[in-house]
Amino acid sequence: MAEPGPVPERKLATVLFADVVGFTSLSERTDSEVVARLVDSAFREMAAVVVDHGGTIDKYMGDCLMAVFGVPTAHDDDAERAVAAALAMRKLGGDLVFSIGVNSGEVLVTPLGGDAGTTVIGDTVNVAARLEKAAGPGEVLCGPLTVELIGGRGVFRPRQPVILKGKREPVDVAEAVSLRPSGADGSAEEIPLVGREDEINYLGALWQRVARDQRAQTVLLCGEAGSGKTRLAGELIRLASVDGTVVRSSYPAYGPAGGAAVAADVLHQLGPVDDNEVSIRVRSLAGKTDESLRLMDPAGLHKEQVWGFLTLLQEKGAEAPMLIVIDDVHRSSDTMLEVIAELTGRLSSVPLLMVLAGRSEPSSWLAHFPAATTVRVGPLGRCDAAALSRVLVCDKPLAAEAADFLVARAGGNPLYLRELVRMARATGSLVDDGECYRLGAAAVPASLHAVLSARLDTLGPGQKTVFQHASLLGDSATEDNIGRLGAPGAAAALTSLVDGGLLVRGPAGVHQAADPLLSEVAYETLSRHVRGALHKQAALLPGPPEQRARHLERAAQYLSDDSSVADQAAEMLAEVGEEYADSARYPEALRVLERAVELGTRRTSVLLKLADLQALTGADEEARATLALIEDDPADPEVAIERDHAAARVKMFTDPEMAWPKLMSVAGRWREVGRPDRESWAIANAGVASFNVSRMEQAADELERALAMFVEMQDRVGAVSCSSFLCIVKPGDRRVPGWLADALAFADETGERSKQISALTPLAWNYYLRSLWGGPADTAEAEGFGRRLADVAEQLGDDEMAVQAHSLLALMARWTGRIEEAGREQSRLVALLDRPALRDAWLGWAAGFSAAVAGGSTRAAPPFPPSRLADPVAGVARTVIRAELAFAGRIEEAAMQIETVARVPGAVGDIAGGLVNALTLVLDRRPAEARPCAERAVSAARVLDAGPAGVLAMALLAEIDRDPDLVPPAPEGGLSVASAAVMRARAVLGDAEALEELHRITDRLAMPGLVSGV
Ligand SMILES: Nc1ncnc2c1ncn2[C@@H]1O[C@H](COP(=O)(O)OP(=O)(O)OP(=O)(O)O)[C@@H](O)[C@H]1O
Ligand SMILES: [Mg+2]
Repeated sequence: MAEPGPVPERKLATVLFADVVGFTSLSERTDSEVVARLVDSAFREMAAVVVDHGGTIDKYMGDCLMAVFGVPTAHDDDAERAVAAALAMRKLGGDLVFSIGVNSGEVLVTPLGGDAGTTVIGDTVNVAARLEKAAGPGEVLCGPLTVELIGGRGVFRPRQPVILKGKREPVDVAEAVSLRPSGADGSAEEIPLVGREDEINYLGALWQRVARDQRAQTVLLCGEAGSGKTRLAGELIRLASVDGTVVRSSYPAYGPAGGAAVAADVLHQLGPVDDNEVSIRVRSLAGKTDESLRLMDPAGLHKEQVWGFLTLLQEKGAEAPMLIVIDDVHRSSDTMLEVIAELTGRLSSVPLLMVLAGRSEPSSWLAHFPAATTVRVGPLGRCDAAALSRVLVCDKPLAAEAADFLVARAGGNPLYLRELVRMARATGSLVDDGECYRLGAAAVPASLHAVLSARLDTLGPGQKTVFQHASLLGDSATEDNIGRLGAPGAAAALTSLVDGGLLVRGPAGVHQAADPLLSEVAYETLSRHVRGALHKQAALLPGPPEQRARHLERAAQYLSDDSSVADQAAEMLAEVGEEYADSARYPEALRVLERAVELGTRRTSVLLKLADLQALTGADEEARATLALIEDDPADPEVAIERDHAAARVKMFTDPEMAWPKLMSVAGRWREVGRPDRESWAIANAGVASFNVSRMEQAADELERALAMFVEMQDRVGAVSCSSFLCIVKPGDRRVPGWLADALAFADETGERSKQISALTPLAWNYYLRSLWGGPADTAEAEGFGRRLADVAEQLGDDEMAVQAHSLLALMARWTGRIEEAGREQSRLVALLDRPALRDAWLGWAAGFSAAVAGGSTRAAPPFPPSRLADPVAGVARTVIRAELAFAGRIEEAAMQIETVARVPGAVGDIAGGLVNALTLVLDRRPAEARPCAERAVSAARVLDAGPAGVLAMALLAEIDRDPDLVPPAPEGGLSVASAAVMRARAVLGDAEALEELHRITDRLAMPGLVSGV
């Protein structure tokens, strides 16, 4: 089969432009033939420098040269190589002086001319060329990513940002001054070693044995880039330097004569030898060949060198045991490997531990040491990786999901973890939310991109293509499907990738990349066009509709000029999105439907569904925009009514004042067209809007009207929705217990989780209010409902309800002395509140504050919900903050927030708000003002059947009136605010035992405020 022609590819590369400056003046003085010769020879030398550093010459243009590092083969340090080459070029050229520009970034490798039959194009190239024009004679100017990639290993002089031709924003520029020798990147390792105990113990034991038995031993440390070989070797060095001689060197990444440099380094560290013969021979290994050796033939010289080194090591070994670590051995030439192999083979009675560290790819170096012990430095285990990610973030805990995400993405590779965290910090996606860090989305950092591209380029072309195809197919990467994408020799390549450990064959024959980041980068190297074409092809593969929709979506994204793909994608996505919505997978449904509409779907049912979902997540503006896409249909007047109904419904929580008249008018229009089934909903919605502006009676009327209609139509869904809401509006109504039970039974019957949410919400609230300020036994039922609500709301991605549920759970735990549990709920809240749509979830902030204060925090109270908000839940949030301030003994602050106007009208307001007023006023020693509040609370508690709140109110009254007859009996139900209040009343009236009990209770509740003034 013919090799496929090269395909365009996206790569991270570094481009170098070098131009002869002063060329004109030179040509004035000198004969043009001489000039041409000079330039020609300079270019030849420059080309040699480029090649020595692992780059390729892309082209010559007049007196300018363009070189690329990273194409065709990427190295993890291409930026550094390019700058090293540029600095080396400065030293060439004799009379000629060059100006040089270097820039790193994404390039498109396309099959056109050039050395490897390809060239690179893209903005990265243009900027490199312009940097060269901006550079003065002898200067090397570098673009920002080049500087970032080189990091601490380079010395740069910052320059004014340069406005480059054709660019709107100025580009950050730095002049390269020099590169630091490898290993000296100036960034001292501060992070403690995590995990690797087994490896360290094993290496430590080997070291002991070498010293004890006076025997030499060779260990190979191998693993992929960034797995921690160097770090591990460093730990061993620390151990060994206590009682031994330590020598450490590493192979340089580029440049000629790397082996000689290592030899020179090792010799230097071992120190001088007395024996001149030995000295001459070992020094020749380091490239300094003495006169006396010039006549030896190469094979003879080799033997002499090995003898010299052996003798040297024996001599040094007699002084103390030795550890020699040579790092990055995978870069070594075969000749050098042979020397080392021979040395290690012949050393036996020297106390020497020789550690050779290098990557497992390319693996050829390992074969030189068949007798050595191999230590594979594999990925860190999950726990260690999670621990390392926390250590890296260091100054604050990392939220559990954030750690999980990092660990999954990095696949246990410490370098990946380090770079992902660094990138997250640099791009601001590591978000500090006060208690801990959480993580936003972030791209693969360029530094890792370089490492990963280098790894990809060690694959054969067939393997790389198949790996890319597997990455593109994701969870449908079966052998069959990969084969159908048409890479020649796919089956064989796939097998070799599995054998090499890059792909793992999972259940159902799906091939997954062992390294998730490598798979991301493999996908990114595909050019957009190729990506689009492959997705289009993948959409034809057999599989579930989601899979086809996903591929079509991507195809449409990358083949933006192919309108038929967009149409197909839109249709497919709409279908899948509706299915998601019908099976209550709302977050997915939302995303998919949004995309379908973006791609052109205009079906009314799709638009309505999308608007509903958008409204559900608080994206009102988006919902409105979606509805605006629905046009009047002359043949079907109901389309317009449905649209206007939806638009008003969107506003029923956020702008109920405006929504109400619209809902009423929609109700009228439904009546006109004879649709009582829809009319009843409009009326019910209007009732909700009325409730949201706290017009309780009107809300009750409207909901009762709608309820009657639903009952008559035998519409159980509607009936249950109305009665459930009525439970909140008229909590004292005698029908409430029946309604609530009915709602839950119905929700459970249907198994439909959104219905369960609607049933559980009023249930949780009702029971919460009835058990408010009681003990754990009182709150158990309410917590049961709250917990279920939290679960279901999270399953459906209904963040708002999840926040309400977790808030109630946090408060109930906190107020019954289960502080740790409250803390856990608080972390959950913090995670939920991070979502932008929920920024004004007042209750969540209030409950979080409450839990934090109980945990000992003295932080300031969160902002109070603005008074323009009529939302009763916001009103409860105010109460919560006020109560917590009072419990914490921050009486002054609490007293400042006394509410003269009940923010939540009715019995609920009297309990939630009135009781807190009473408590605050008592603690603030203002009994006269406290009395009416406490009295109202007593009767409200009776109406609501709220036992513990009633006890609390009565106890306050007893304290206010100093009347022992009024003190209620201590409530059962366990540790509670109510029992504290009873003890307090008794203590105030002189009961010493009660005082002791009060202290005990308030300690356990973490409510010092309740003791104040006693
Ligand atoms: N167990 C560990 N605990 C903490 N940090 C670690 C651990 N292992 C590695 N690191 C850190 O991860 C980064 C990469 O490790 P290291 O340089 O040792 O990798 P390597 O295997 O030598 O990679 P390369 O093949 O590129 O030389 C370093 O910053 C290192 O300090
Ligand atoms: Mg290393």
